[in-house]
Amino acid sequence: PIGLKASASVRGLQFGTAASIDHLRNNVDGGQFNPYVIKNYHLIEPENDLKPQKLWRGENNYDWVDSDWLLGATPDTVGWAQQNGMQIRGHTLVWATDNTIPHWLLQQESSITPDKAKSLMSDYIHAVVGRYRGKIPSWDVVNEAVDDAQNNGHPFNMRNCFWFRKLGQDFVKYAFMFAHQADPQARLYYNDYNTEDMGSKSNSAFELVKWVRSEGVAIHGVGMQWHIGLWATVNPGDQYYQNAQRLIDNGFDFMVTELDIAIPMNGNHPRDLNDLHKQGLLYRALLKYVLHFSPRCHALITWGFTDRYSWIPAFSDYLNGVALPSDWNYQPKYAYWQMQEEL
Ligand code: XIL
Repeated sequence: PIGLKASASVRGLQFGTAASIDHLRNNVDGGQFNPYVIKNYHLIEPENDLKPQKLWRGENNYDWVDSDWLLGATPDTVGWAQQNGMQIRGHTLVWATDNTIPHWLLQQESSITPDKAKSLMSDYIHAVVGRYRGKIPSWDVVNEAVDDAQNNGHPFNMRNCFWFRKLGQDFVKYAFMFAHQADPQARLYYNDYNTEDMGSKSNSAFELVKWVRSEGVAIHGVGMQWHIGLWATVNPGDQYYQNAQRLIDNGFDFMVTELDIAIPMNGNHPRDLNDLHKQGLLYRALLKYVLHFSPRCHALITWGFTDRYSWIPAFSDYLNGVALPSDWNYQPKYAYWQMQEEL
């Protein structure tokens, strides 16, 4: 096979995968990791390495070791990504759940005024986005700001998190404002899960991004994570298509940012082997959906590529897994071949 990347290019689509910088730096599994990524993907989204928990060690204190290796420390320094012709997507500047906000920040919460919170956010976003200006064409600026529970009484049903407590709904607007100031060329996304279908959560996210734009702030698109299971059915004209269409009709791009399709597990194996077949068809349906909206949706990113490093087993108490297009040993699964065929 020529690989997903080459086939997708022909259709004007970019394929992406999450990957950890550590795996890339060590080219793990006997040197299989990097060639696989380079052959099959246009872009890499660092799985955890561009998150505040990783980079932001304290006020004016940053850990650039890994990100500089990937991207280069100064505008004219070339990192691994550029050397290998890989595009990097940024994830994420403000993750709006308390368990993802740096501990040192939460610990000082009672002494931080709203003005101070705003200037801390500004410092951080300018530091990160500014450092890699021109090297990260698209960023998830705000991640997961909308609550799962309905009608929680907050504007846009936003989560109760540090940033919301300090700045209310404006924190979202500020994050986009600072990101745009730091890199005016970057495409800026709001990213969330369970916002793929038509429902109260996607409605809230939709209202939120329209509001940010109405405040005169640059915002270009919505990332839909697509962490799903075999329960989903995706067909032309259904609620998933309608949801994407309403974003486009309102001038927003969208992207599939974290696709994986979890299967019930028994130990390390699918409970039912037929599920691999269903999973393959669903991967294909997702690819078809993305192609339908191209170029307003120009990337399909999976949350990893080999089952060996998927976050799903640990996240699901080892009840679900084998959620990615390649198996533990980097062998293409039915899902991979189904996508190759659709291309
Ligand atoms: C996950 C990573 O995959 C894990 O390694 C980490 O422990 C937790 O975060 N939504 C997101 C991603 O936006 O950043 C999450 O990534 C998965 C859910």
